[in-house]
Amino acid sequence: MTTVAPKPVFDKGLANTIASESAMSWIDGQAGVLEYVGIDIDSLARNSTFEETVFLLWRGKLPTATELDAFTTTIQGQYELPEPMWDLIGSIPVDAGPMHATRTLVSALALHDPEADDPSPEASERKGIRLLARTPALIANFDRHRNGREFVKPDPSQNMATSFLTMLNGKPPTDTMARALDVCLILHADHGFNASTFAGLVTISTLSDMYSAVTSAIGTLKGPLHGGANEAVIHMLDKIGAIDKVEKYIRDKLDRKERVMGFGHRVYKAYDPRATYLKTFAKQLADDTGNQQLYEISNRIEQVMHEAVAAKGILPNVDFYSATTYYSIGLATDLFTPIFVMSRIAGWVGHCQEQLADNKLIRPRCEYVGPHEMPYVPIGER
Ligand code: CMC
Repeated sequence: MTTVAPKPVFDKGLANTIASESAMSWIDGQAGVLEYVGIDIDSLARNSTFEETVFLLWRGKLPTATELDAFTTTIQGQYELPEPMWDLIGSIPVDAGPMHATRTLVSALALHDPEADDPSPEASERKGIRLLARTPALIANFDRHRNGREFVKPDPSQNMATSFLTMLNGKPPTDTMARALDVCLILHADHGFNASTFAGLVTISTLSDMYSAVTSAIGTLKGPLHGGANEAVIHMLDKIGAIDKVEKYIRDKLDRKERVMGFGHRVYKAYDPRATYLKTFAKQLADDTGNQQLYEISNRIEQVMHEAVAAKGILPNVDFYSATTYYSIGLATDLFTPIFVMSRIAGWVGHCQEQLADNKLIRPRCEYVGPHEMPYVPIGER
């Protein structure tokens, strides 16, 4: 008896395909709602910490004080890099793009992990913790290396946001700046089956390993249609330069059918709830640091875009105001996407764990549009 395969559905860009189940984050794109394990993102941004949010995403519930303490201590216990990684950071060309450096360094962590190929859930979580705990030191110290500064080791008494900024700047951040980064890490931690998460899932679904999955995800996050948009936003703000130039710049861009970075989303057709929170935050930081110009240009871009394309559901996304927030924290523009990596590792690892718990190879089909029954022409006769 022959098995008749169901007819595949053609869905370009998988825009209308639900590929699997997840209990981590829920998005209502029409209402502009994002929840992690049922808790509204705004409530988490106001009340939680990045470490607590990771626990929530990975374990499906908020931790008790004792559980949070143990989880945080476990992460901090894994901050230190394997010794050979320092030489590797020092060997990266100083003009390398930070996302290339991040992808290479995170991938290299596997070389120093004896559990790299252990697929058990316990080993996978330990690898997830190592990836989460060590990536900040890789990014901050690559930045120090390219600027000719001495390495600074992570401080296991600090939370991830504070330790990262301390390594990056060689001195501890103010509480406001540490909290600002902590909130950004919360807001970027997970977002359903976005492109980078899906790339990681495709990799882990072949029963490859967590390092390979996260490396695939980093390569995918890098693109300007995904995580790279936050960097592109700052370049756009710099190029515009003044409020009175906004309207012409944006209208000309739209007339040329070009994309305005930081706007639009595959799922949200209402205001991205992360952008709602970040807009208020970016304003507050701009006021605190006296750095209002970029915020004001951003606000004006939003008004012009609103008049022009809001009716089509093209509204600010998470990257639009995270760009000005990161700028106010004093972060180099080309570190914005690597910082997104630091946070989204939480989502990538959590989704990979879900995939491993009920694995099915992810392998879509393509619609063949080439010719058939062509002759093979010998090379000398072509
Ligand atoms: N500026 C101008 N027009 C836009 C934009 C934009 N940012 N985004 C979408 N459109 C238009 C697009 O030109 C198209 O118009 P038309 O129907 O007339 O041809 C329509 O909206 C639908 O666009 P689409 O490309 O079919 O929609 P999509 O769901 O494939 O795109 C997107 C989603 C995020 C790739 C897109 O909105 C975009 O390129 N945005 C700019 C890049 C960006 O900010 N990316 C960050 C996304 S959120 C964070 C993350 O995922 O990392």
